Amino acid sequence: MAVTLIGFGAVSVWGSCLLQRVLVALFLFTSIPLVSAQAPSAPGKPLPPGPMQAKVKAACTQCHNTTRITEQHLTRQQWSDQLDKMEGLGAVVPESDRNAILAYLTKNFGPPKGGGKTSVKKASSAAN
Ligand code: HEC
Repeated sequence: MAVTLIGFGAVSVWGSCLLQRVLVALFLFTSIPLVSAQAPSAPGKPLPPGPMQAKVKAACTQCHNTTRITEQHLTRQQWSDQLDKMEGLGAVVPESDRNAILAYLTKNFGPPKGGGKTSVKKASSAAN
């Protein structure tokens, strides 16, 4: 909708400076909620109890809720790759906790029994 407005301003016969400024202001204003929609909105599914529950909660729910984690069924190697990816995005996983966190994740969200293929499930929105 903002894009249509800008387009309208550019082709308009009475596209005065003022009108364009109003449209640009409108555009900037309407974009703000899109940029700041990062905070997790819902608590998500509870993490199962375990020695690393509190640490995983603290380290992994700043950007998305626990559902991102609880919906996965990954091998230890895949969880390790996920931790690398999350660290690349800004997550802090202390080296001393890494093995315990991997064990916790693999134990609770490991590959399905029966050796089916696993792959990382992606949610449709960027972070929720
Ligand atoms: C700095 C923000 C941030 C932190 C902290 C964070 N994540 Fe994520 N996580 C993301 C983003 C952004 C995505 C979506 C990535 C995508 O779609 O490519 C995501 C997606 C995921 C996914 C879904 C698979 C995927 O690649 O899309 C899993 C699983 C996951 N995170 C696990 C974790 C775990 C475990 C931790 C704690 C060690 C963690 N995250 C901490 C930002 C973060």
